[in-house]
Amino acid sequence: MDDRDLAIDIRQLVFSYPDGTEGLRGVDLCVGKGRRVGLVGPNGAGKSTLLLHLNGLLRGTGALSVLGLEINERNVAALRRKVGLVFQNPDDQLFMPTVFDEVAYAAVNAGYSPSEVSARVADALGRVGLSALEHKHPVNLSVGQKKRVAIASVLVTDNELLALDEPSAGLDPAGRRALIALLDAFQTTIVLATHDLPLVEALCDTVAVMRDGQVTRVGPTADVLTDEAFLEECGL
Ligand SMILES: Nc1ncnc2c1ncn2[C@@H]1O[C@H](COP(=O)(O)OP(=O)(O)OP(=O)(O)O)[C@@H](O)[C@H]1O
Ligand SMILES: [Mg+2]
Repeated sequence: MDDRDLAIDIRQLVFSYPDGTEGLRGVDLCVGKGRRVGLVGPNGAGKSTLLLHLNGLLRGTGALSVLGLEINERNVAALRRKVGLVFQNPDDQLFMPTVFDEVAYAAVNAGYSPSEVSARVADALGRVGLSALEHKHPVNLSVGQKKRVAIASVLVTDNELLALDEPSAGLDPAGRRALIALLDAFQTTIVLATHDLPLVEALCDTVAVMRDGQVTRVGPTADVLTDEAFLEECGL
């Protein structure tokens, strides 16, 4: 594959947390543009750590380029505008005083006019079913509602890559179905880290399996998720 067709190109990415924990121990992963990748693996495998590298929030060593941009000081602002990242824990993501402001934040930063911002926020909140809550303080929402706000806050701009950490966690069945429908309508590259294997089956063409800080297998969803012996060995 031509490098320009890659949304994510990671070679031997290594990252240790300040306490010395080796979060990533030589990750290799190439994702073509437009692909939808389910990132699976047991607790502590490094899925969240990897996603946090995709917009430069964490910086490991090795080679990492996203949407053709190497991750460095010069590119990080541009990358943040192109990569929509939903954190595993919405409390780590939400910081504005109202749901409206929270969702508007990225749209304001992207330079849209106030009327365009309002229209985009209304659309994003409608898509996650939260239109009635736009004046509420995000802290005072249920877990699933917070997750929906976090998802709306990345849908509000036109991202080229969506990196979603446990997007279905905490959602009720109707919310989960709505999430699948709305993600299914996207043409952009999507990487979603999850333990929800039916979600991966419903949305992703590719599965990447992580274990012990490395990506140990990448393949078509139909191959990986039907390999029962392999899944069991991985604790999935
Ligand atoms: N802030 C931190 N400080 C130190 N170690 C951390 C920190 N965050 C994560 N780790 C460690 O890094 C490793 C990878 O964690 P990570 O959160 O990326 O796993 P994960 O695959 O997302 O797991 P889960 O399925 O539970 O979400 C684990 O060993 C974890 O204990
Ligand atoms: Mg995680």
